[in-house]
Amino acid sequence: MSGIDAIGGTPVVRLSSADGAEVWVKLEAANPTGSYKDRMALAMIEAAERDGRLQPGQPVVEYTGGSTGSSLAFVCAVKGYPLRIVSSDAFAIEKIRTMRAFGAQVELIPSPDGITPELIPAMMRRAGEIAAQTGAFWTDQFNNTDMIEGYRRLGEELLEQLPGPPAIAAFCSYVGTAGCFLGVSRALRTRLPALQRVAVEPAESAVLSGGSPGTHRIEGGGIGSWPPQLHPEDLDEVVAVPQDDAFARARGAARADGIFSGPSTGANLVAAAGIARRLGAGHRVVTLQVDSGLKYLAGSLYD
Ligand SMILES: Cc1ncc(COP(=O)(O)O)c(C=O)c1O
Repeated sequence: MSGIDAIGGTPVVRLSSADGAEVWVKLEAANPTGSYKDRMALAMIEAAERDGRLQPGQPVVEYTGGSTGSSLAFVCAVKGYPLRIVSSDAFAIEKIRTMRAFGAQVELIPSPDGITPELIPAMMRRAGEIAAQTGAFWTDQFNNTDMIEGYRRLGEELLEQLPGPPAIAAFCSYVGTAGCFLGVSRALRTRLPALQRVAVEPAESAVLSGGSPGTHRIEGGGIGSWPPQLHPEDLDEVVAVPQDDAFARARGAARADGIFSGPSTGANLVAAAGIARRLGAGHRVVTLQVDSGLKYLAGSLYD
């Protein structure tokens, strides 16, 4: 047994503060590094082990805002793979320190204004260089379909935990790579073909809604372009949440609901509340607590 065996099987709770439809939140902070990314990190590494892309002791490299990196650092530590990470000071220092705590070598690209449209491409280029120079296995999360599979179980858990009635009518989730959104909505749709799949993004960089890329502070998404795995037919609606609303809701959720999390969870909760008001009583909306508020204590969110 190791920490890896504790991934998944997270609780789901109903918000008492919601108007209209029921709002249920899957508490993914209960994963070992406090984030749903543990699921995809394990899936990417184990798929590469199975088909030989990753050999025993081979280095691994990734670009990450820090959540994927923390989860990869945890999985690679347990499995004995040295890990190189490309990240930025635009992301929470707690995540950078977590990666280092698990033994990863972390390189930061400065981005003092926040998550700019240039940042992710710059991080990607640097990770590609490291892979080419060192022979490291590049997990390449935005282009890796194994990570979508890693979230299938999350969707299956929701079906087991919330069989209904009422059946789950809508699922909403903040989109970065879109791995979680796709993996969960596909698993839910196997039993709920009418499920409304609602992608959530920052209003300041509302590219999925047809807007322009922009700078924002909702870590984990709003990358300034469509993520390569996501296509218009994969979603039914997009909700763009202003970053101030996401931050305020994250703070409110800690106090009103005891759900202690980060800005992307705040965005999920804002979107879920809007869907719940529209659907009305007798329906059920599901969203995710992406990660723990402990990852954001040093930044402005809880200052
Ligand atoms: C804090 C946070 N929220 C949301 C997301 C979005 O998840 P996904 O990449 O599965 O779309 C991420 C992904 O990095 C994240 O780190």
